Amino acid sequence: MDGIDFEPLNMDFDRPPACPVSEFRRWFAEAARLPLPNPNAMSLATVDSDGTPSVRTVLLKGLDESGAVFYTNSQSRKGIALLSTQRAGLLFFWDALGRQIHIEGRVHQVSDVASDEYWSTRPRASQIGAWASQQSRVVASREELEQSVAQVERRFPNSVPRPPHWLGFCVELGLIEFWQGHPFRLHDRVVYRRNQQREWVCTRLCP
Ligand SMILES: Cc1cc2nc3c(=O)[nH]c(=O)nc-3n(C[C@H](O)[C@H](O)[C@H](O)COP(=O)(O)O)c2cc1C
Repeated sequence: MDGIDFEPLNMDFDRPPACPVSEFRRWFAEAARLPLPNPNAMSLATVDSDGTPSVRTVLLKGLDESGAVFYTNSQSRKGIALLSTQRAGLLFFWDALGRQIHIEGRVHQVSDVASDEYWSTRPRASQIGAWASQQSRVVASREELEQSVAQVERRFPNSVPRPPHWLGFCVELGLIEFWQGHPFRLHDRVVYRRNQQREWVCTRLCP
């Protein structure tokens, strides 16, 4: 493929692997080799309690059998939507690989221990920003935001505790779809869902 200095390993869509989590890891590892600043960027779709959909980018910070984790402000628009509907969609699109991964599922909050652990890896300036910004609320000017940062700096001269509203959400893997683009719209798609025994059931879909 153009501009890629390695040969991506193609998935066999007629005999898809049993475990979508390992396949996700493989695709993600290949995306991480692309010259992209944020190969872990994903679109997060939520629905407000009145049914209005909205979407924005967040960064994937972990994926395993329990789901895909990102961190945010639970009082933001997305946070309120997630707490109210407990459902979300995620989308990765790696253009250079002609690949898309789509996830849908129920959402739960990660443990405080996990949120604390990730918080402790954040640079101080990001921690200050998380307190200073009332994410999704109206702010009059850049100056107001900077004043809020200065206030938080004074409040926490040493270590910065995690705000109670800043936490990780995990989108469970209710559905995970792999899409590989091909010329003339004859793309490959497989979707994995769990059955009642929580085993993965894989289905091929028309593009
Ligand atoms: C590349 C990129 C990565 C981002 N990562 C995050 C993130 O991990 N968490 C987050 O809360 N916002 C992140 N944002 C900002 C969100 O896209 C969004 O603007 C913000 O969370 C407010 O969304 P909301 O008002 O819909 O709740 C990111 C934006 C970009 C462009």
